[in-house]
Amino acid sequence: MCGIIGYIGKKEALPILLQGLRSLEYRGYDSAGVALMHDGKIERIREVGKVDKLVQKIGAHKISGNIGIAHTRWATHGGVTEANAHPHTAGQGKLVLAHNGIIENYRELKEKVKGPFESETDTEILAKWIFHNYKGDLAQAVKNALRQVRGTYGIAVMHADHPDEIVAARLGSPLVVGIGEDEYYLASDVTPILPYTKRVTFLDDGEIAVINRRGLKIFNLKDELIAKGVTNIDWNVEEAQKGGFENFMLKEIFDQPTVFGDAIRGRFDVKEGTAKLGGLNMNLEEMQKVKRVILIACGTASYACMIAKYVFEKLSGLPTEVDVSSEFRYRNPVVDEHTLVFAVSQSGETIDTLMALRGIVNVVGSTIAREAGAGTYTHAGPELAVASTKAYTNMVAILLLYALEFGRLHHTTLEEGQEMIQNLLKIPEQMNEILKNSEKIKTLAEKYKNYRDFLFLGRGINYPVALEGSLKLKECTYIHSEAYAAGEMKHGAIALLSPDFPVLAIMTKNRLYEKMKSNVEEVRARKSSVLIIASEGDREAKELADDIIYVPQTLELLEPLLNTIPLQLFAYHTAVALGRDVDRPRNLAKSVTVE
Ligand code: F6R
Repeated sequence: MCGIIGYIGKKEALPILLQGLRSLEYRGYDSAGVALMHDGKIERIREVGKVDKLVQKIGAHKISGNIGIAHTRWATHGGVTEANAHPHTAGQGKLVLAHNGIIENYRELKEKVKGPFESETDTEILAKWIFHNYKGDLAQAVKNALRQVRGTYGIAVMHADHPDEIVAARLGSPLVVGIGEDEYYLASDVTPILPYTKRVTFLDDGEIAVINRRGLKIFNLKDELIAKGVTNIDWNVEEAQKGGFENFMLKEIFDQPTVFGDAIRGRFDVKEGTAKLGGLNMNLEEMQKVKRVILIACGTASYACMIAKYVFEKLSGLPTEVDVSSEFRYRNPVVDEHTLVFAVSQSGETIDTLMALRGIVNVVGSTIAREAGAGTYTHAGPELAVASTKAYTNMVAILLLYALEFGRLHHTTLEEGQEMIQNLLKIPEQMNEILKNSEKIKTLAEKYKNYRDFLFLGRGINYPVALEGSLKLKECTYIHSEAYAAGEMKHGAIALLSPDFPVLAIMTKNRLYEKMKSNVEEVRARKSSVLIIASEGDREAKELADDIIYVPQTLELLEPLLNTIPLQLFAYHTAVALGRDVDRPRNLAKSVTVE
């Protein structure tokens, strides 16, 4: 996701800013830019692509100054172009601003400010909106402007008439101030700051920092000065990227409530009870002509697609098929002009998925993103652990929104659409509830870690969840594991069951609850231990289970967003208990670019 870096002090700012951009590269981005202030003038250089390209472009330009801001952009509003890269300007270049996040009411603000506009971004509108509020006091302009902004932001602002000031503000997108000797650093996380100082102050939501060489003042939006503590960070760079978690995988599991919010933000319409995903590049008429949906993907992404199949069919009635890309590619699939094909991929580089017609990808600027010609980014942020967790959840989120959008064109009613959105909005809080069980799941992992085999069972929309839980366990721990649609178990797999073969059953309270309960009874009769994922307060499940993990209740179609999380934690803790390299399991690669 986007990254911000800022510096104010006595040193030459440019090398610090460029180095800072490099250490933010791990977050993922598609373009970069820098603005420096010198002698009351601001100079700005931006470039599409990697920081190296920006460095080349700066090349001969001898820009210098002791104060500046820089940014790596991950496209949200508007394509990957130099004009859309940050920092953005207002007032003929007098004010510059770098921004992470999304300004939801930018259209409304655009009406109030003056053009011309050089980009397609919400950020440029924000820069112009702050300039519109400027009456000689930059900090005041930022405070007044932000009171009327809806959405999320982490911003850094400079004004040519304030050669000794950077104003920063946060709502939803993290910002941290590094405190040196008569100098300050500003960044989206501590990684770029660590080489210079270990003393930092984290901004909280709704706070505005006014930074000059003599000091740092932090205000809230009501303009009250706030006393903030200074934290001493003793992490190295890799530890900083892990945000204090032991491994990337655990961090990414815990990122889910936040990145899920990023995936759905601004992409639904409560009043109309529908979703609005611009990336499809199809008008209403074209959408109505779609008669069939095909989803293609590999591994975890294919399980996200299987979940989507249930949701598309339920909400839209459109026949929906899922295929693993490597099979789809060499079959003779029947695809006519009324078939919409989604290719779903975290990395956007998976070779088998590359022949996509439409892409849902996480990595901005990846090959699939470029070649598909249309698509939607999942906004999961960089996923560094090989085993996919948060990217999967956000794929499910985006596919649910697509299914809702198509559903509303067919037989999903306004009330059903609104109910789904209301329940989607509760998901982050419910995910947090589940994450609180991490320590309990760690104890269960200790108990089950020495089994050689595992069977995962689920029905309906929880069948793909069982497949995903089983894949996570096998790839992270190397324990042999299988997943079955619970109703199918008695047609063969039941022969495997014995006291040495534990079963994990997803048995939340939905339409198929009673059926699932009967399958669990069948398992118990074979003396296998049973670990059940059940809805909060379900006492019957507790009686059936050797061990139980409770999850909050939601709509049946949204259950995978919650039910997968305990399975990710179970795989993670079991892998750690067995001493596995959880972030880099053997034989696996993060992007599979060979057949
Ligand atoms: C499993 C996992 C893989 C990927 C698969 C597709 O945890 O990460 O199964 O899901 O290789 O990769 P992408 O989504 O990058 O196309």
